[in-house]
Amino acid sequence: QTEQGNAAGSDAGKSGFRALRSRAWFNNPESADMTALYLERYLNYGLTIEELQSDRPIIGIAQTGSDLSPCNRHHLVLASRVRDGIREAGGIPIEFPLHPIQETGKRPTAGLDRNLAYLGLVEVLFGYPLDGVVLTIGCDKTTPAALMAAATVNIPAIALSVGPMLNGWHEGKRTGSGTIVWKAREMLSKGEIDFKGFVELVASSAPSTGYCNTMGTATTMNSLAEALGMSLPGSAAIPAPHRDRQECAYYTGKQIVEMVAADRKPSDILTRSAFLNAIRVNSAIGGSTNAPIHLNAIARHVGVELTLEDWESHGADIPLLVNLQPSGEYLGEDYFRAGGVPAVMGELARAGLLDGAALTANGRSVADNVAHVKIADEDVIRPFDRPLKPAAGLTVLGGNLFDAAVMKKSVISDQFRARYLSNPDDPEAFEGQVFVFDGPEDYHARIDDPALGIDERSILVIRGAGPIGYPGGAEVVNMRPPAALIRAGIDALPCLGDGRQSGTSGSPSILNASPEAAVGGGLALLRDGDRIRVDLKTRSVNLLVSDAELATRRAALAAEPFRFPEDQTPWQAISRKITGQFAGGAVIEDAVRFQKVAQVH
Ligand code: FES
Ligand code: MG
Repeated sequence: QTEQGNAAGSDAGKSGFRALRSRAWFNNPESADMTALYLERYLNYGLTIEELQSDRPIIGIAQTGSDLSPCNRHHLVLASRVRDGIREAGGIPIEFPLHPIQETGKRPTAGLDRNLAYLGLVEVLFGYPLDGVVLTIGCDKTTPAALMAAATVNIPAIALSVGPMLNGWHEGKRTGSGTIVWKAREMLSKGEIDFKGFVELVASSAPSTGYCNTMGTATTMNSLAEALGMSLPGSAAIPAPHRDRQECAYYTGKQIVEMVAADRKPSDILTRSAFLNAIRVNSAIGGSTNAPIHLNAIARHVGVELTLEDWESHGADIPLLVNLQPSGEYLGEDYFRAGGVPAVMGELARAGLLDGAALTANGRSVADNVAHVKIADEDVIRPFDRPLKPAAGLTVLGGNLFDAAVMKKSVISDQFRARYLSNPDDPEAFEGQVFVFDGPEDYHARIDDPALGIDERSILVIRGAGPIGYPGGAEVVNMRPPAALIRAGIDALPCLGDGRQSGTSGSPSILNASPEAAVGGGLALLRDGDRIRVDLKTRSVNLLVSDAELATRRAALAAEPFRFPEDQTPWQAISRKITGQFAGGAVIEDAVRFQKVAQVH
């Protein structure tokens, strides 16, 4: 399945690796005593001087799997095939752990850990004798954390996806990660299931090792890593337990050695063309609303100009081709059998929508990689001329409440459209009264309070959920309506917020609003009962009050800033001081000036 390029071959170690950076540690004639010191401890478990001084590349395996990280845990198994591939091609593997990031297990949010893992990996890649690295990716934040670090350090790097779980099934129906949780919560609210039934239904979606089998943030980011050219073509969609996944691990190990020989670095692959290709692929797969945050972050660390506006201008009009939950009906195994990322890219390439010249990890161009790929199941991956939805990319909105926010158009349901977007004079716009929650705890405490008077014309707003307010940014904007409304058949209300939303949610929320309330953004000005107008045609969200009233509220906010919960850990406090807004990738702003740091070693 996975196509591998010009592998270096078993004699690679004997030639072609001039100027390996690991020589500065292990074979530095100018500093014999330091070389001895560096060598000494790496010998103590059986590596030999001959191996370390043979001018063979030292290849790191950045291990994201652990018992704390079930989504990526299978990398503990795959690493042995990665090692085989590295050895086969003449390299020396050195495996090391990354700060664990588990999307579902980490409190208050795994979003807080992306930049921490990034910092840690930058230090490792910079400070140790590594000539190249295999990035083991999978669960949501592990992919961007690893790619961001590779972008900063800029040593040859290739990503290996752990792969999605097998499809979940319950009573003959596919149950998808995350997506089934939203449905199960609804059923629990309606009294259709009890807690035991809830757990049973949710657990059915996780039948094997691997990451979320829906088109959530994990499948999205692993697909985009491939679309960017940072992993082998065909590698993203292979389910974790398949034998092809093990083969892919082996080929990835071989490939990184060839990349070191060719000195093919992240900066050669992660060009603006590659990012624009990835934006288009994101629309075609119905990718997560977390994608712009992470892709923009990677771009900033590699020094490529990329803005949210690029998502609108290059991605908004791309049709939805992949029929995966939450936008569609299928799951990861189906995506793989239908052809995965190469099948999608083949359709886009033939439609003239990809830059085929973009270079990928195997040394070949995107055009070469996808030239002969065909869709194997046109119900799962649609041909370009028969899409599931036209113009299904993310829409970028602005207005008097924030500079930028995104909305995933592909998940607007017919029911939602009929209720909110059916005014014949104004089919792309709706107005409503807002109910405002300050962070997820406030939302959970009050949503079912009948005194609020939330009805089917209301708009739910959550603030204090951005990268500063709820450090790392809470995945909470897709708020379920009050249980009483759900029982009356209203299963979704329009939502707006400065937080994120799980990629597995099928809610057309307006999210990632930047700047967030916690740094003085306009959501902090809202009060219960205010009316706002959402217009998808003009891409605007506006609070319907006079400019004078807006100015009065701004002055009041400046005098008394928006309050958010106290720091619970040192990193929360540090992160709040150094992290930027979602629109700019929520990166550590001061880290952006460090570019290609490996070259100045
Ligand atoms: Fe880890 Fe979804 S929770 S991939
Ligand atoms: Mg998530």
